[in-house]
Amino acid sequence: MHIISWLVASTALLGITMVVTDPMHAECKVIWLFGTPCREVSVSLVSQIKAWKSKDNCETGGERCLYELQYTSTFFVKALHTSRLTQMVEELSFTLYPSETSSACRVVGVSISENWSMLDDNGTNYCTLFNLMDGSGLTQVEGYKEYTNEWICLEHSTANCTIY
Ligand SMILES: *[C@@H]1O[C@H](CO)[C@@H](O)[C@H](O)[C@H]1NC(C)=O
Ligand SMILES: *[C@@H]1O[C@H](CO)[C@@H](O)[C@H](O)[C@H]1NC(C)=O
Ligand SMILES: *[C@@H]1O[C@H](CO)[C@@H](O)[C@H](O)[C@H]1NC(C)=O
Repeated sequence: MHIISWLVASTALLGITMVVTDPMHAECKVIWLFGTPCREVSVSLVSQIKAWKSKDNCETGGERCLYELQYTSTFFVKALHTSRLTQMVEELSFTLYPSETSSACRVVGVSISENWSMLDDNGTNYCTLFNLMDGSGLTQVEGYKEYTNEWICLEHSTANCTIY
């Protein structure tokens, strides 16, 4: 009995520690659902990344600028974002999973800070992902849902994406 409860407890602990894949870098993982085909989601994401390449869109503040598209294929998008204020760099990736039974799309977005090792990012990694969803209008798409929490997305609940 004791061994079994120990095994259960260890598995639970392992589950938690495995969530933080790289404890030295701030990071955020989000899952989104859209009631629209992945092809359209991908086009919206890529064109928003390209539209925010220069500093122009940050003239009145915020971090909705300095994105750099690195790689794109049918179901995968990779980009970098440089903070206008701190020059810190985040690596972003979006993996798209088409539904087999409908025209829906599931997207897993991950952002990891290249730079700092402090686990205090004011929601920067969350906002770097969310700003693209918001700016491209994908948050308005039918069936839009967002899933994340503090375990997998640093300071998600307090992030102010007007600033970061
Ligand atoms: C952040 O990391 C990038 C790439 O590793 C590097 O070029 C840049 O100088 C770093 N910035 C700071 C402020 O450490
Ligand atoms: C987070 O916010 C605090 C308070 O505004 C600031 O001092 C700190 O530098 C910020 N950290 C980052 C990584 O932006
Ligand atoms: C986020 O920051 C902006 C700009 O500083 C501010 O106007 C707004 O009230 C803040 N939002 C929240 C929810 O704190």
